[in-house]
Amino acid sequence: MNDTFLKACRGEAVPYTPIWIMRQAGRYLEEYRAVRGKADFLTMCKTPELTTEVTLQPIDILNVDAAILFCDILIPCEAMGQGLEFHEGKGPILFPEIRDEETVNKLFVPDPEDTMKFVMDAIRMLRKELSDRVPLIGFAGAPLTTATYMIEGGTSKNFLNTKRMIFEAPDLYSTFMDKVTATITEYLKAQISAGAQAVQIFDTWGGIFSPEDFREYALRYVQIIIKDLKSAMASGSINQVPLIYFVGETAGLLEEIKTSGADVHGVDWRINLDDAISRLGDGAVVQGNLDPLSMFLPQDKIEERVKDVLKRAASAKGHIFNLGHGVVPQTPRDNVIALVEMVHRLSKK
Ligand code: CP3
Repeated sequence: MNDTFLKACRGEAVPYTPIWIMRQAGRYLEEYRAVRGKADFLTMCKTPELTTEVTLQPIDILNVDAAILFCDILIPCEAMGQGLEFHEGKGPILFPEIRDEETVNKLFVPDPEDTMKFVMDAIRMLRKELSDRVPLIGFAGAPLTTATYMIEGGTSKNFLNTKRMIFEAPDLYSTFMDKVTATITEYLKAQISAGAQAVQIFDTWGGIFSPEDFREYALRYVQIIIKDLKSAMASGSINQVPLIYFVGETAGLLEEIKTSGADVHGVDWRINLDDAISRLGDGAVVQGNLDPLSMFLPQDKIEERVKDVLKRAASAKGHIFNLGHGVVPQTPRDNVIALVEMVHRLSKK
């Protein structure tokens, strides 16, 4: 197997720097758009054959070193009892919005093999199809990021309702977050049991807080999940797999993030990787961190930036190359193919 990704996650020596790309299965690929033309997004997430097809596309097209399950962080919200729809051009809609005791009390902590069986079936199918070509990454949203969509009812500009719940009804927020945290913990355990060989926790909106509020209202729940997963690994009830924690707007929060308990920390592009590594401390394993929109530069300029990231990553115990956030739909696919080739060539030992 190409296990450079798993080795880098564990901080072991690798022949070259492995790379995968957040949102690597997506609309910038015409092959994805062809499948998407025949089925809506949620149908794709819920049909293991389609999930498998689009998950594998970037492995063949880009030559990346890991596959990431095609799904969405909002799938567990529906399993908890909330309505979920994706509207063309408007993004996700969740209803009713979780704003009071009544709506919080109606949510439940689902059995993932029951309510989200299609995800676990897709993982099992993917492991067969991949037959150890590259490792398969599973994922979930972090409790805070998941909760913002549930409270706001979709994407938000200033997270007014989330922060109002936190500041006006902190006990309600913590009751709600306990349910979200338990759901995500069980969901990740089920993904690992089904065959996920690493998992990433996406905390896209962690950066909406001051460091102190981030610790109290976001990180605390991530630490609970990671502790629970690590003890399940230690007791042998789930496989030992690397845990990756990605936070958007990383730079103001690194001293907090380093206490997450994760094996790998995702870093966005708003900070130089060597600064991030020194603030994360000895033995840091990092993932990142090219600006996703730098994919619109000419390829010689992309190459300069790749060299810079690789140079700055030298002080890390391990480095997985990635963009600092998801690849955007308008991205020229040839530049993404070129990026993977550059990372492999320029990092070769
Ligand atoms: O990385 C991958 O290739 C795996 C698949 C994946 C998707 N979403 C597919 C998707 C992953 C890991 C996600 C995570 C996700 N989803 C996050 C966290 C990471 C991030 O990007 O910040 C968030 C916040 C979501 C919620 C979400 N899903 C939004 C806000 C939207 C609408 C915006 C958009 O890009 O259209 C989605 C839809 C979505 N998720 C698409 C894809 C490929 C586009 C759906 C389509 O084909 O129309």
